[in-house]
Amino acid sequence: MSPRSQRNGRPAGAVAICFLCLLIGFCLALCGCQPSKPEAVKTVSIPDGEIDPEVWGKAYPDEYNLWKKTEEPEPPGKSKYKRGFDADRPTYDKLSEYPYMALLFSGWGFGVEYNEPRGHANMIRDQLEVDAARLKAGGVCLSCKTPYAPQLQKELGADYYKLPYKEVLLKIPEKNRSLGVACIDCHDNRDMSLRLSRGFTLVEALKAIGADPDKLPRQEMRTYVCAQCHVTYNIPKDKEMNSVGLFFPWQKSKLGNITIEDIIKVIRSDDSNKEWKQTVTGFKLAFIRHPEFELFSNHSVHWKAGAACADCHMPYTRVGVHKVSDHRVMSPLKNDLRACGQCHPEGPDWLKERVIEIQDRTVSLMLRAGYATATTAKLFEAVHRVREEGKPIDEEIYNKAKDFYEEAFYRCVFIGAENSVGFHNPPEAMRVLGDSIAFAVKSEAFLRQILAMAGVEAPMKVELEMAKYLDDRGGKKLKGEPAIEIKDPMNLQDMF
Ligand code: HEC
Ligand code: HEC
Ligand code: HEC
Ligand code: HEC
Repeated sequence: MSPRSQRNGRPAGAVAICFLCLLIGFCLALCGCQPSKPEAVKTVSIPDGEIDPEVWGKAYPDEYNLWKKTEEPEPPGKSKYKRGFDADRPTYDKLSEYPYMALLFSGWGFGVEYNEPRGHANMIRDQLEVDAARLKAGGVCLSCKTPYAPQLQKELGADYYKLPYKEVLLKIPEKNRSLGVACIDCHDNRDMSLRLSRGFTLVEALKAIGADPDKLPRQEMRTYVCAQCHVTYNIPKDKEMNSVGLFFPWQKSKLGNITIEDIIKVIRSDDSNKEWKQTVTGFKLAFIRHPEFELFSNHSVHWKAGAACADCHMPYTRVGVHKVSDHRVMSPLKNDLRACGQCHPEGPDWLKERVIEIQDRTVSLMLRAGYATATTAKLFEAVHRVREEGKPIDEEIYNKAKDFYEEAFYRCVFIGAENSVGFHNPPEAMRVLGDSIAFAVKSEAFLRQILAMAGVEAPMKVELEMAKYLDDRGGKKLKGEPAIEIKDPMNLQDMF
């Protein structure tokens, strides 16, 4: 009999069994055993404000050793799309995987070098290796990388944001200069309860949307510690393009319903959010980064079911006789989906198929949205040439085309930057991409109308000139690598 069909009937003896269960539960509680949750067994005390994980590791060696492992590459071949830290190569270039991004991001750091994420221990090392164009914003780039960020922000004030990256980095003690996310970022040293360390970002953002950061339930804290960094943010600029701050664009939203529509409204409402100038169109634009928390918490099945980031990315695991949370945070696929078993009786093969099916569909639509937006960008280039030649351009239609282009752009960047390739919230990812395509195609129609009115013939197929954007990028002269390009799993993209 399945557990579901048992629920309605009440077999004889059930009352007695219930009583027995209660009794056992009571005894367990008395012994202090909690079979469902690992225990923090503390042996050494950790001084207040201690940042060095080695000191924390003396008290909690199991978690420390697992956390250390995030510097080791992961088994290749297990994840179809998130290969960033697979042992087969140093890293995966996202612009080669998705060439349309090279065209759309040309004009600043993300268009020079943009890699898939790797394990937590590498976050600062990866910054030191990436093209310097990515660190132009200054010290502010350390905000979701070093555990020293809250301290530096307090000490340096406005300078923290705008001083050159390397200058702020040098203020970190040498031993820990390349240290990534550390125990103190997520834990209270006294009782190991979860805490938010980034008062100047997440705590402010939560307050701005009416949530009380001090009253978040424990299960939700297992998500919020991750939301300190796995969120989108903006770095507003002054007139000289110096960074003057950092904020999450959630002001028009409610917790549990942060939408792309609201995010776009916030970032488009103020020119100081426009951090860069797109080469192809010449437009000044804002940007969207890794919005894992936003996509996940916006009415996804798993958010509604009460699942937290840690449920899937830090499953309980055994180390010797201890049961601990797996601090080797990584893709659940690389862990053979052990995390899912606590809620899903289906085996890992079945679940893996579901994940990949969701991701295939997302990627297919994402390519459609990305190339539709890139095509529109190239038509703007054509329209601008026509305008330079002195031909008349219908300004009203032009403004509408630009408005729709930006709507399309931010939507396809949102899903492209979100690291689960749709899994964290499949229907929402599809909705956003569908709208991106609709805005892009409408914008393209407006641009073709403008060209027709100016007496210019628009080509049937717009040439994207991909090599121009993919090859010879930055100081390292990076080239597009066709071998790692992610092709449309539905085999339709070539028709467009
Ligand atoms: C202090 C900021 C910060 C916090 C807090 C944080 N992350 Fe990350 N996370 C990052 C950065 C940065 C990267 C990319 C590192 C790189 O590519 O070098 C990353 C990468 C990852 C990856 C990819 C790892 C891989 O092996 O490819 C996963 C999965 C992940 N984080 C999940 C989580 C979860 C779950 C939490 C909460 C338990 C969390 N992160 C908390 C900043 C953070
Ligand atoms: C229901 C399970 C589940 C929950 C809850 C969940 N994730 Fe994921 N996450 C996944 C799966 C599955 C993938 C896809 C992994 C892959 O394709 O290899 C993923 C991918 C990721 C990645 C990219 C991993 C990589 O290797 O590059 C990051 C980062 C990430 N999730 C962070 C988060 C954060 C932060 C939260 C909470 C806001 C969260 N996840 C909640 C299951 C989950
Ligand atoms: C990105 C956030 C994050 C970082 C960094 C982190 N932890 Fe944790 N840790 C968690 C979460 C989430 C739990 C589960 C807590 C819960 O459910 O109450 C946890 C649980 C624990 C526990 C309780 C027992 C267990 O394993 O569940 C200990 C002890 C612990 N961590 C030690 C450490 C140590 C030591 C470090 C640094 C080497 C560290 N943690 C770094 C997020 C983090
Ligand atoms: C805390 C419990 C929990 C965990 C952990 C969990 N799930 Fe789920 N999952 C649910 C619930 C509840 C539903 C919705 C009802 C149902 O389908 O059973 C669901 C639905 C799903 C669905 C169908 C809905 C959709 O979004 O397409 C898939 C696929 C899925 N889960 C995969 C996974 C995978 C893969 C993992 C591990 C990476 C995982 N789940 C981890 C509770 C969980």
